[in-house]
Amino acid sequence: MRSHLLNDTTAEQYRRSVTEGIERVATKLATTKRPFTGVTVDSLAPVIDAIDLDKPLHDTAAVLDELEDVYLRDAVYFHHPRYLAHLNCPVVIPAVLGEAVLSAVNSSLDTWDQSAGGTLIERKLIDWTTARIGLGPAADGVFTSGGSQSNLQALLLAREEAKTDSLAKLRIFASEVSHFSVKKSAKLLGLSADAVVSIPVDHDKRMQTVALARELERCAEAGLVPMAVVATAGTTDFGSIDPLPEIAELCGQYETWMHVDAAYGCGLLASVKYRDRVDGIERADSVTVDYHKSFFQPVSSSAVLVRDAATLRHATYHAEYLNPRRMVTERIPNQVDKSLQTTRRFDALKLWMTLRVMGADGIGQLFDEVVDLAAEGWKLLAADPRFDVVVQPSLSTLVFRYIPAAVTDPAEIDRANLYARKALFASGDAVVAGTKVAGRHYLKFTLLNPETTTADIAAVLDLIAGHAEQYLGESLDRAC
Ligand SMILES: Cc1ncc(COP(=O)(O)O)c(C=O)c1O
Repeated sequence: MRSHLLNDTTAEQYRRSVTEGIERVATKLATTKRPFTGVTVDSLAPVIDAIDLDKPLHDTAAVLDELEDVYLRDAVYFHHPRYLAHLNCPVVIPAVLGEAVLSAVNSSLDTWDQSAGGTLIERKLIDWTTARIGLGPAADGVFTSGGSQSNLQALLLAREEAKTDSLAKLRIFASEVSHFSVKKSAKLLGLSADAVVSIPVDHDKRMQTVALARELERCAEAGLVPMAVVATAGTTDFGSIDPLPEIAELCGQYETWMHVDAAYGCGLLASVKYRDRVDGIERADSVTVDYHKSFFQPVSSSAVLVRDAATLRHATYHAEYLNPRRMVTERIPNQVDKSLQTTRRFDALKLWMTLRVMGADGIGQLFDEVVDLAAEGWKLLAADPRFDVVVQPSLSTLVFRYIPAAVTDPAEIDRANLYARKALFASGDAVVAGTKVAGRHYLKFTLLNPETTTADIAAVLDLIAGHAEQYLGESLDRAC
């Protein structure tokens, strides 16, 4: 069994084995014609159930053959131009190379003595990101597992900086379309059930700052303590960007921590054309960025950034065996001092490889392409009487609904749209997402693939209309 350990004696086997795996994936990517096969849980679960994990195959080629059946054949492929559903991007090759390197070397970024250069690379990327945001000379941050963890850590720091010892008094203000991790974080941080105050959005799904001002004032009058305002730069459902400068003003006025959840909108930090859409982000106390959403990085790759490095001390604990206090005075950089995690992947390497091969403009240009694509898609939808489209995109999301001319019952239109999404998924021809707007079912394209064209968008809209019409036709037959 020692032959499976990756070390000096097995380098050749490592090369062969990984190359074999890469060959399979490369062939798969080159020959995949649809984003999904339409496989169902009922048909796939027995295939996986039938595998006896106590009976290994002892042969890489045989295991890769098996992997074809249990995973590769029916995976959902984000690189396909007709995968238009969630916030998943196709990944860039330099980052995939970084992934291969980081898992083979297997550095752990908690301490200097487990990572050496890895720690310094991560720190440099954090500095690069804070400079792009404009957080100032005292800024810092750390890579995390994703936007949810970044939001949690930011809100932990905000809680610790808040001017009260009473958790029950703390309030967080976030728009009604902010990410659910804000509420989850409030719960994890021990805040009261009504701690997150939901601020209504305007027609463009941006936080209404008049309403925010009103709620902040009401909070002060009630003797409660505003802990943080979470501004979203790229909402999950609409890609809308809250008015950051106005929110920053209010945070200053009410001495409140400003957190910007730019999990999605962070792509604009590299944008060549649209950076100004996140102007005001530089006034934040903390920022969430998900490189795995809009920097074309493989999952996971995220970071939380803070204006004042000193606030990261709220996540600092020392252990004699790992990061004893004396290491701080010895100036030994242990990233665990800033992180909620202990053992931590060297995800930063993927971004490093990306920037070193492609440069920031390379990433920014790809992101600009999907922003432009969404603008074109919006024009298509707005001009098409078969569809109702919700907001003109600030990023790369389109939310719309099929509205058949002959049907007026909104519940029946809901069912037709739900059916169309399901039927499309089952066909595997395209994958789209869905959400609710004002209580009604809508469909959603999250466009993160520069390979997707307006022709793809038009074709998928026709497929949706076809499935919805089929449902309505059958529904009419049932009624007769
Ligand atoms: C605005 C926003 N914030 C946070 C998150 C959570 O990010 P993650 O899925 O990386 O935890 C998401 C995920 O979609 C998001 O859209």
